[in-house]
Amino acid sequence: MFYIGITVAVKTFQEDAKIDLVKWEADVLNRFDHPGLPLLFGASLEEKPYRLVLQFHGIDGKCVTFKGAVESMLQVDWVRICKEAADALDFMHKKGFLHNDLKGDNVLLSNDNNAIHPVIIDFGKCRSITNPKRYSLRAKEQRKYSKYHRHIAPELIEGTHPQSCESDIYSYGYLLTQITRSITKNHTVLDNISIACVRRNPLKRPTLSDIILKLK
Ligand SMILES: Nc1ncnc2c1ncn2[C@@H]1O[C@H](COP(=O)(O)OP(=O)(O)O)[C@@H](O)[C@H]1O
Ligand SMILES: [Mg+2]
Repeated sequence: MFYIGITVAVKTFQEDAKIDLVKWEADVLNRFDHPGLPLLFGASLEEKPYRLVLQFHGIDGKCVTFKGAVESMLQVDWVRICKEAADALDFMHKKGFLHNDLKGDNVLLSNDNNAIHPVIIDFGKCRSITNPKRYSLRAKEQRKYSKYHRHIAPELIEGTHPQSCESDIYSYGYLLTQITRSITKNHTVLDNISIACVRRNPLKRPTLSDIILKLK
């Protein structure tokens, strides 16, 4: 779809979506101004389904998720892409927000200025750093999360810690393991970062500044 000559993506919410959550997502997006995060053009909140109109990010007009790119073994400069994704996440954290759902479906690849760049999307689970959520899951739900939501840090699933920059860094590390396992095999720097980010102890994980420096 086009809006003033720009290709846009329309995010349509389910009928039961709460207006406050849609407004929150729009409000968060409005505060961003970074090449690794989408621009919000507008929101349609007068009637259901609610919609957000975002800058479209893709390659040759097609939407390419990080997950899809890994599965199709897309040959791109993965080290630079991982550095840029860390940069976008760092920007969010510095603005005071946690993403809380960083995974292969929620990072797009975009062909801008003759190079492929990552764009982090989906701020539906985003929270202010000062208002993180603490999960309280029963044993059965914990097992389900550990199996099907592997990008979520163990301390969140177990309920020992609330969401944090460190739990986002865990998800970032899990994203990296998907590349190091299949595409960039034996890339020592990426291997070391991904392993360090998914350490069980959140305090033993590297910071995004450490990661960005190592990927320079
Ligand atoms: N800015 C965008 N440009 C291109 N495609 C997008 C954009 N935003 C979302 N999409 C597509 O829509 C899908 C769902 O968007 P997302 O924000 O992740 O919503 P959901 O909460 O349904 O997961 C994404 O995986 C992607 O394929
Ligand atoms: Mg999503």
